[in-house]
Amino acid sequence: MSIDVPGTEGYAEHAGVLANDWRKISFEDLHRPVLHLIPDAPSRILDVGAGMGRDAAAFASMGHAVLAVEPVDELRAAATNFYPASSVVWLDDSLPDLCLVRERANTFDVVMVTAVWMHLDKVQRRRGMGTISDLLVDGGVVILSVRHGPFPGFVAVRRFGPMTAR
Ligand SMILES: C[S@@+](CC[C@H](N)C(=O)[O-])C[C@H]1O[C@@H](n2cnc3c(N)ncnc32)[C@H](O)[C@@H]1O
Repeated sequence: MSIDVPGTEGYAEHAGVLANDWRKISFEDLHRPVLHLIPDAPSRILDVGAGMGRDAAAFASMGHAVLAVEPVDELRAAATNFYPASSVVWLDDSLPDLCLVRERANTFDVVMVTAVWMHLDKVQRRRGMGTISDLLVDGGVVILSVRHGPFPGFVAVRRFGPMTAR
């Protein structure tokens, strides 16, 4: 993992449990309110903080070209294990700057930032939003979830389930 990535504290240690928990929730159930925003035509999708790859794999199976960014090695490994045949391209990169994504000089039709923003402070969010904006095509879509209240920590995530705790 890239060292000192803000927001990733604890994920490596709990990756196995978290990855299995996240996998129990389907892409469709989780994103039903925003599914109409996903283009039908094959598109370029960037999934930032992609975790164990549930969403990235779902997009790839729909025919989209997916670049998934995940700074925690253990979660990228879980993704490869869960979805070995997926066409998703994975990068060890992170907000707020997404340096490796930017080096590739691609732009995206959709940027997903699901359950990640809570890990950034105010300054990082401002920088991160500029980064995302630079990577988005005109008329592109950003799907970003926010949580109300602070990140509860991994004990609460485990007890209540990662999605209901958001
Ligand atoms: C709650 S998980 C959500 C994972 C996935 N998006 C999902 O909805 O299942 C938060 C993810 O954000 C990643 N993350 C934390 N800080 C990050 C940062 N600065 N840049 C990119 N990803 C980060 C974590 O490693 C973790 O995979």
